[in-house]
Amino acid sequence: MQKSPLQIARSNYNPKMPVALQGFVAIKEGEKTHSVADQKEIEKLFPNTYGLPVISLVPGEKKVFPEMNVGVILSGGQAPGGHNVIAGLFDGLKQLNPNNKLYGFLNGPSGLIEGNYLELTAAIIDEYRNTGGFDIIGSGRTKLEEIWQFDKGVEACKKLNIKAIVIIGGDDSNTNACVLAEYYAAKNYGVQVIGCPKTIDGDLKNSQIETSFGFDTACKTYSELIGNIERDCNSARKYWHFIKVMGRSASHIALECALQTQPNICLVSEEIEAKAMSLDDIVDYIANAVCVRAADGNNYGTVIIPEGVIEFIPAIKKLIAQLNDVLAMPEAKEISRDEQVDFAKSHLTEENLAVFNSLPVGVARQLALDRDPHGNVQVSLIETEKLLSTMVAQRLEKLKKEGKYVGKFGTQHHFFGYEGRCAAPSNFDADYCYALGTSAAQLIANGKTGYMAIVKNTTAPADQWIAGGVPITMMMNMERRAGEMKPVIRKALVELDGAPFKEFAAHRDEWARKTAYVYPGPIQYWGPTEVCDQPTKTLALEQAK
Ligand code: FBP
Repeated sequence: MQKSPLQIARSNYNPKMPVALQGFVAIKEGEKTHSVADQKEIEKLFPNTYGLPVISLVPGEKKVFPEMNVGVILSGGQAPGGHNVIAGLFDGLKQLNPNNKLYGFLNGPSGLIEGNYLELTAAIIDEYRNTGGFDIIGSGRTKLEEIWQFDKGVEACKKLNIKAIVIIGGDDSNTNACVLAEYYAAKNYGVQVIGCPKTIDGDLKNSQIETSFGFDTACKTYSELIGNIERDCNSARKYWHFIKVMGRSASHIALECALQTQPNICLVSEEIEAKAMSLDDIVDYIANAVCVRAADGNNYGTVIIPEGVIEFIPAIKKLIAQLNDVLAMPEAKEISRDEQVDFAKSHLTEENLAVFNSLPVGVARQLALDRDPHGNVQVSLIETEKLLSTMVAQRLEKLKKEGKYVGKFGTQHHFFGYEGRCAAPSNFDADYCYALGTSAAQLIANGKTGYMAIVKNTTAPADQWIAGGVPITMMMNMERRAGEMKPVIRKALVELDGAPFKEFAAHRDEWARKTAYVYPGPIQYWGPTEVCDQPTKTLALEQAK
């Protein structure tokens, strides 16, 4: 691999570590835990892994650990820092016993099922320290949910004498990790399963997980780009930029980027749902802001749109819920892609059909097409930024005829998603991920299964971070998925009474009218700590006492 000068210099970065992980480590067990909801059902489904205590890793004495082999899987969408989780895991394992081995299962969970692996040696790991991407072993979205897959996985583990598997993934993948841990514990297979909280979307967080890794770097990358657009916008003064940002369901990315860049408008899907806004209401909201700025002579601006917004418009949400059930019907699996839309339409209630028919053809079609392997609508394929700007343009035409709008409305469209998922991790993500990997090694050595590695107190300097593990069952509740009630990790949406949204809401009217842009610039890896080591504004506001 030919490396850039930055890559070469960055490979020498030593992640900052919590004090407890710098020397010998002991584990401290807390109180027994309960799931966030549906406790009886979750306990029944996870008799071997329910109710386990939260674990903190603290400074300890030297201890000899027997040799062990561990497998690691990268699951789902890429997130900056994944390579550092693996590097931390590798170094942590070697520190426990230099004979320990780490195997990477290739291309996601399917690598485990197919027994497709690579031994990760020191030479390989060194090539990937502090780099973005998941290319060290590849990732995939295969869902680990069926018994035959679990049994195939155990076959691969037995062949390599693997004692534990680390699954680095989002809410869906960690749900699968929990199901796998329970199955292996119930069968006494002697294979532990540990999860790690990954996703740029930032929606895998709760009372125990402060943030998912990758969110920091992705938001800083998008904010750099949005800031650049804002500066261009404020220089040329002729375009309204409609910028969609990734995040599938939750609007954490959009909100964080808004806090960093102070655009004229940022939609927050969770608020749209709470206010039961329709597509027309959203269009009105944007068009009004355009009119107000035009009246001040400002025919330019920036609008941030969370990619999942369409799913949060109540009438469309209801439609999608029914479409999900229809597409999960056995007959739906038999028909061709071309027939799928008509099949779906023929099964909709009158009310849902009316909503379906009211949508632009492209959007309606995407809603009725295949889900990803976890049953999600593929929102990144819906061009909401174009849909909204077209509808706003039509509304402005009408307002112009009524004499209520006097401006020009030129538009540009952007979608920032893949641009940020493999960026070289910020110092925060490089440090956080390395500590997560090292914690995972400790949880494994201490015989734990069904846990997710965690690191807390992350707004303090890294040496004061607190590493440990949280039972995955603690984060679960029952939700309807593909027509059935299933145990899943609860997705964290933006809380409208939470500090980040309140901060945004307190300023948005001013940002809408004025030009109050902030230009964050690129991520810095070397330099003053207030430039290089700051967490996201979301994390800082959430953790502020
Ligand atoms: P994960 O939840 O697996 O981390 O992926 C997040 C994400 O980047 C979403 O923001 C986006 O909607 C989706 O993946 C895109 O999926 P794909 O990579 O399959 O196109």
